[in-house]
Amino acid sequence: MKLSTLVTNIPASPTLTITAKVQELKSQGQDIIGFGAGEPDFDTPDHIKEAAIEALNKGKTKYTPVGGTVALKEAVCERIRTDYALSYKPENVIISCGAKHSLYNLFLTLFEQGDEVICPAPYWVSYPPMIEIAGGTPVFIDTTKTGMKLLADQVEAAISNKTRGIIINSPSNPTGMLFDRQELEAIAELCVKHDIQIISDDIYQKLIYDEAEFFNVATISPEVAEKTFIIQGVSKTYAMTGWRIGYCIGNPDVIKAMTRLQSQSTSNPTTFSQEGTIAALMGDQSLVEERRGIFEKRRNLIVDKINDIPGFELITPQGAFYTFPSIQGHMDRFGSASRLAEFLLENAHVAVVPGEGFGSKTHFRLSFAMSEKAIVEGLDRIKQALNT
Ligand SMILES: Cc1ncc(COP(=O)(O)O)c(C=O)c1O
Repeated sequence: MKLSTLVTNIPASPTLTITAKVQELKSQGQDIIGFGAGEPDFDTPDHIKEAAIEALNKGKTKYTPVGGTVALKEAVCERIRTDYALSYKPENVIISCGAKHSLYNLFLTLFEQGDEVICPAPYWVSYPPMIEIAGGTPVFIDTTKTGMKLLADQVEAAISNKTRGIIINSPSNPTGMLFDRQELEAIAELCVKHDIQIISDDIYQKLIYDEAEFFNVATISPEVAEKTFIIQGVSKTYAMTGWRIGYCIGNPDVIKAMTRLQSQSTSNPTTFSQEGTIAALMGDQSLVEERRGIFEKRRNLIVDKINDIPGFELITPQGAFYTFPSIQGHMDRFGSASRLAEFLLENAHVAVVPGEGFGSKTHFRLSFAMSEKAIVEGLDRIKQALNT
């Protein structure tokens, strides 16, 4: 069957591919430790589930407005007010089927053929395909030599008269890098000067370690806020990946256009998931902090274990739940992260995500959204396999 050129050129998500492979091998009875997880291993808190069950029992099983209910948009505004000290109205908000869907709608709304979008590399796997689906061109900036930080000088050098957007993902998937105020102020100044829209993907905002502080560019000035689109959602913060609720907050004209686009594809996100999300955003937040503490302990453990393996180099992640070590010391032996990943799957029965899909063939990603026991066992296996 002939497929469209657009779809033929879309790569499968490497992270989801690894997860599927691990499931397949496990179902064949193999003892595989998978470091591919892109989601918390915790369950959704009970009060959130109960709110969705109650919604179902009350017959909330029909369409809602395309861009989400006003009640949920108000809950999002309230959370942003509390967490960011920024004031938005429901007209600034669209609720989509996950943050990924919000990003997709946003890219298609803002960009088209001929537009360039600055994308720091390593990047989350889905940014480049989404930019390309919109017809735009990702302009990658290598941050592997600058501590995984995008510097304003690099941004300035990459700006052309076609630059329309820039992606800020802090804390970052896959590197765990976190921008501070000064770094973002320098980048934001360039964005205002050159009329560049800022896509701030804050999905890991609540997972920050070592008492580091989250900072969002929109808080710099109203001028910067006008150019900023905040991407947020409940997947990672409340262990709600399967509920498929995410949102975008920004300029109301763009939000309206995104809603038109969404009206011709998915319509509203699932009605009772929206009800559960209100409970998540408005309810008790203590579990979020408790779980963050658990992730921090795991982060400390995995960093120690990785640093104990010769040939790997790691920048300690300050947020999210991933490590992204360099395999520099093993390049002569393996040549690329993909080859190393194949070797580890075969010889250590450990699944990791090679860095190629994130824009680096000399790194690989290990998630720590798993038990401490599995982290220890997995890294011990890796160390042993590489020694033989
Ligand atoms: C950086 C980043 N942005 C967005 C998403 C999408 O999250 P959601 O489950 O809300 O679609 C992910 C999920 O892995 C992510 O890592």
